Amino acid sequence: MIRRVGVALLTGLLMLWVPLAQSRPVSDPDNPHNLSIGATHGRTQATDNTQFGANEICIFCHTPHSATALGPLWNRAAPDMMGSFPLYNSASLQIKNIAAAQYNTTDYPNGASKLCLSCHDGVTGIGTLLDRTITMNHETMSDVDTTATFDPVIDLAQTHPVSFVLNQTVLDAMTGGKVHLPTLDLRDSQDRVQCTTCHNPHDDSAEAVYNTAGVPPFWRHIAADPADSYDELCLECHGIFRSPSDHHTDDF
Ligand code: HEC
Ligand code: HEC
Ligand code: HEC
Ligand code: HEC
Repeated sequence: MIRRVGVALLTGLLMLWVPLAQSRPVSDPDNPHNLSIGATHGRTQATDNTQFGANEICIFCHTPHSATALGPLWNRAAPDMMGSFPLYNSASLQIKNIAAAQYNTTDYPNGASKLCLSCHDGVTGIGTLLDRTITMNHETMSDVDTTATFDPVIDLAQTHPVSFVLNQTVLDAMTGGKVHLPTLDLRDSQDRVQCTTCHNPHDDSAEAVYNTAGVPPFWRHIAADPADSYDELCLECHGIFRSPSDHHTDDF
């Protein structure tokens, strides 16, 4: 019975999930989040065709049955690093001192960020799913070749803060008036900033269509002039912002 409900739910979700016209959905074999054996991007993917599920796409993150409550029909356990993730912290950061922001709770990271880090922590098996293990060319994110500007292992100490509440109460407790509430739908259902504030884990349109405009990977917001996509997203919340050369490897 539980299985039937699960299948119906995923089918329903699939029907709601209509990619935008200019996009590279995760079903595209060139999308880096397509981890199936049929992927053609030459990056991380399944390698053993005899394994059930190796040729599926959504399975690496979602399952129609036996899902956890962590995320939408989520097929992965919590990150192995849970409990030892560092916080982004700087002298000027205000949210760390505002209780309503709920930064640094026992469940940190939470929401969609926790889902991302079940691969991007660099230690959790990418092919380790709730109900099976699929053999990958890179067992963890640490096995991926890095360059000076690319490293898929995310260090939260050097990443824009995530998993905190941003609402009017938090804003009222902040000084300096540098931050405001976004008009775009950039927070989760609990008003929290997450990895998904900046990234859309399904749509890789940025690289597929707008690469020359310098739109970051899996970017959530594409501006009318794609070259403005980065700035426009930051300006949704920041009156002014420093423009770090790299979001995940520098201290801001
Ligand atoms: C690399 C991981 C990954 C893969 C692969 C993936 N998803 Fe997701 N999906 C996510 C995450 C993370 C969320 C939660 C997003 C959030 O909470 O904002 C999500 C959410 C969803 C949702 C809920 C609505 C939404 O968009 O937030 C649907 C529907 C969905 N995914 C469908 C699919 C389908 C269909 C596939 C296969 C074609 C797929 N996903 C492949 C990571 C993935
Ligand atoms: C099932 C594992 C998995 C999950 C869950 C996952 N990713 Fe990934 N992600 C990958 C892999 C694998 C790559 C490609 C690594 C490589 O270069 O080989 C990748 C690449 C990326 C890239 C770089 C893409 C590029 O073209 O350079 C971004 C950005 C990214 N992920 C963001 C996210 C975010 C944000 C989430 C959560 C919303 C997430 N990922 C969840 C596995 C995952
Ligand atoms: C404030 C916006 C923002 C947030 C929040 C954010 N990212 Fe990113 N991310 C970027 C930008 C911009 C890039 C482009 C390259 C760079 O600066 O590292 C990027 C690049 C990446 C990459 C490609 C690796 C690389 O070295 O370029 C991955 C993987 C990634 N992000 C995952 C995540 C995950 C996982 C989270 C949540 C823990 C997250 N991002 C939160 C803005 C963000
Ligand atoms: C949804 C709202 C939102 C978006 C979008 C957003 N930020 Fe932030 N950002 C915040 C909040 C809130 C803080 C915490 C500020 C504080 O505590 O002083 C923060 C913190 C920061 C900090 C650290 C400030 C410090 O004092 O250490 C930097 C730098 C930053 N953001 C830059 C960016 C950039 C660049 C982008 C676009 C890629 C971006 N932000 C997108 C809301 C957002």
